Amino acid sequence: MHCYSCFFVGSNVYIETMTLNSFKDQYSVFVQGASKGIGLAFVREYLEDKKIKKVIASSRQLEGSALTELINQYPDKLEIYALDLESQSSIDDCAEQIINSNSSLDLILNVAGFLHSNSIKPEKRISDLNLANLSKNFSINTFGPILLTSKLLPLLKGSPYSVIANLSAKVGSIEDNKSGGWHSYRSSKAAQNMLTKNLAIELSMSNKFSTLCVSLHPGTVDTDLSKPFSRNTDKDNLFTPEECVDNLIKVINNLKEADNGNFFDWSGKKIPW
Ligand SMILES: NC(=O)c1ccc[n+]([C@@H]2O[C@H](COP(=O)([O-])OP(=O)(O)OC[C@H]3O[C@@H](n4cnc5c(N)ncnc54)[C@H](OP(=O)(O)O)[C@@H]3O)[C@@H](O)[C@H]2O)c1
Repeated sequence: MHCYSCFFVGSNVYIETMTLNSFKDQYSVFVQGASKGIGLAFVREYLEDKKIKKVIASSRQLEGSALTELINQYPDKLEIYALDLESQSSIDDCAEQIINSNSSLDLILNVAGFLHSNSIKPEKRISDLNLANLSKNFSINTFGPILLTSKLLPLLKGSPYSVIANLSAKVGSIEDNKSGGWHSYRSSKAAQNMLTKNLAIELSMSNKFSTLCVSLHPGTVDTDLSKPFSRNTDKDNLFTPEECVDNLIKVINNLKEADNGNFFDWSGKKIPW
């Protein structure tokens, strides 16, 4: 990541190139989708981390949530905002509130995701597809996160080095797809991956930004999202949210400029698009 700074000696102008590959000493993180699972584990981990100045977190429901309990413990370090990724006005309000109360962000983690609900199951066959399933998956996994991220980009301008990490899923890899099925989820994650790549390219072309943008696969993690499908996953391949977050933080903290616009799993291994 190259940063340019100008300085003057007499009448000469010197341009200095600095290569930055890490966050500044004290930095701020936004965890989008922090009510439970992996997002909540990120919030807990970053609240404990002395290098983190501020943790900003969003959740659909704030009242009575785990986040409101954490606010009592960390009143100066944690800020929480309501966000429903299926609502344009909620995305607009959330972005406006964060922008109005924060001068700078160094890490944006888009974590929220949708795979199933009581009424919506991942499709086995193309004939199972319907507009409601597709819309729900794409709104939460694809549209909402990028719409919010685009509004928060000005907050990264104040940071000398920043990262946007989007929680994707290996099943969103087109090249890796050997078994089909889960049409809405897979395709919404594949589309999310494309937006990640596009944003990475766009930001790398702008001299106003020193931002890396990547997709991350967390592995199979023991959360509500995976529960109905992880029964047969052996213990060694099923991470707790805390283990997952430890893995992903290592990957994020080891990113290099050449990693911009790529897709990594929890161990830092590149996944083909
Ligand atoms: N767990 C795995 O094995 C696994 C594997 C691969 C990829 N992933 C990805 O990892 C990410 C986190 O998943 P997880 O396992 O932590 O799932 P989770 O425990 O089910 O949490 C999902 C999160 O998404 C939020 N969310 C759902 N609908 C929303 C909406 N309309 N607006 C705003 N937030 C919404 C949920 O908030 P509410 O509490 O308000 O519903 C919750 O905070 C997802 O992107 C998922 O696709 C997970």
